Amino acid sequence: MAYNALKGIQDILPPDIHIWQKIESVAREVFQRYGFQEIRIPIIESTDIFIRSIGETTDIVEKEMYTFPDKAGRSITMRPEGTAPAVRCYVEHHLYNLPSPQKFFYSGPMFRYERPQKGRFRQFYQIGVEAFGVSQPSIDAEVIAMLKNLLEGIGLKEVNFELNSIGCEKCRPDYKNALLKFFENRLSDFCPDCQRRYNTNPLRILDCKVERCIELRKGAPAVAEHLCGNCREHFNELVSRLDLMKISYTLNPNLVRGLDYYTRTTFEVTSEHLGAQKAVAAGGRYDRLVEEFGGPSTPAIGFAIGMERIATLLKEIWSDEHPSPKIFIATLGKEAEIEGFRIAEDLRAKGFWVEPNYAGASLKSQLRKADRIGAELALIIGENELKAGKIQWKNLKKGEQGEVEIKDIQAILTDNIQPSNP
Ligand code: HAM
Repeated sequence: MAYNALKGIQDILPPDIHIWQKIESVAREVFQRYGFQEIRIPIIESTDIFIRSIGETTDIVEKEMYTFPDKAGRSITMRPEGTAPAVRCYVEHHLYNLPSPQKFFYSGPMFRYERPQKGRFRQFYQIGVEAFGVSQPSIDAEVIAMLKNLLEGIGLKEVNFELNSIGCEKCRPDYKNALLKFFENRLSDFCPDCQRRYNTNPLRILDCKVERCIELRKGAPAVAEHLCGNCREHFNELVSRLDLMKISYTLNPNLVRGLDYYTRTTFEVTSEHLGAQKAVAAGGRYDRLVEEFGGPSTPAIGFAIGMERIATLLKEIWSDEHPSPKIFIATLGKEAEIEGFRIAEDLRAKGFWVEPNYAGASLKSQLRKADRIGAELALIIGENELKAGKIQWKNLKKGEQGEVEIKDIQAILTDNIQPSNP
């Protein structure tokens, strides 16, 4: 019986894992400079948390959640995203009592029962950030700048920042009415999903990917014309900060996002190298969510990057960079193998990645293996060398070779290789 991973769920193996680790380490370093600290939030939560925040009529809640009853009959959901759990955590632990702002990041798997395709998985990984407690647009600009620095830090330059404001609870009703009026006469021509959205969530019609709907919504009222004074001021200030930092962006009035908790700023980073699933990161402001979760009125903003999509883009840039062993120890005979074992431990203690020869094989095949796994230096111990207290060495990259007393190994290491990174 052969088993496979579930549909839309994949294993991440070396050498890809090295790309993931590098993204994570650059992200940590960038977040640290901006004062974002790590939190570890659970993978499962009470289902209500997601319904309440993401919204009952969104695709995620209607169709995509992995929801099941636990043994006591409670409805549990495997997190489809991290913002709702982060807000639950912020409110549950009264983190609003700490000096504001509180800035966090998290990483880990998310789960959405979507139709799998290139770049779209049912289990996928995000690194997300959330900043609580600042209503000023300076933090919107700061978070976007941090995202840009993160993407540049990992070598991604050809990406587009798309930006919008979807207003607040004051101006959105007016905008919704304008949209309803515009769609009213042509509603029967829209796809069944949009017809449903007309009643439940008309803003989402702007986000529909069906060609016919894209055509039909041309000329729809733009949200920018319906922002209240405060929202407009907020957006203008954000845009001027981005200009100040020379961060280029495209204004996209259709960027409404598939999650209901957003207010004001929304943004998405896309890449033209990815096909249909081209968003590598996305986020926005959600000024009402903390209060809706029972906390004090607290503005907040965040984003999440999609690891699989970023790793796909980076694979081309970093294809040759995966780590390989520094030293291979080839041995002939039991006694030499034991001495090789001892030397391997000694060199590992000095920080080198050492691969020994585990099973007896000819010297030729051991050296072939050393080459295949990308080792830089082979140390060769045979019975004669052992008796003489010596070791042969071969630089597998340059072809140079020689002999050295075992006690003097350090000298050839210094000449031939650098210690591995921890
Ligand atoms: P989101 O747009 O749903 O936002 O997801 C963020 C990113 O996760 C997407 O841009 C994409 O790169 C990746 N992603 C989403 N779904 C999939 C999938 N099925 N397969 C692969 N990658 C995927 C959020 O999740 C918000 N919580 C972001 C946020 C944080 N807003 C404020 N704070």
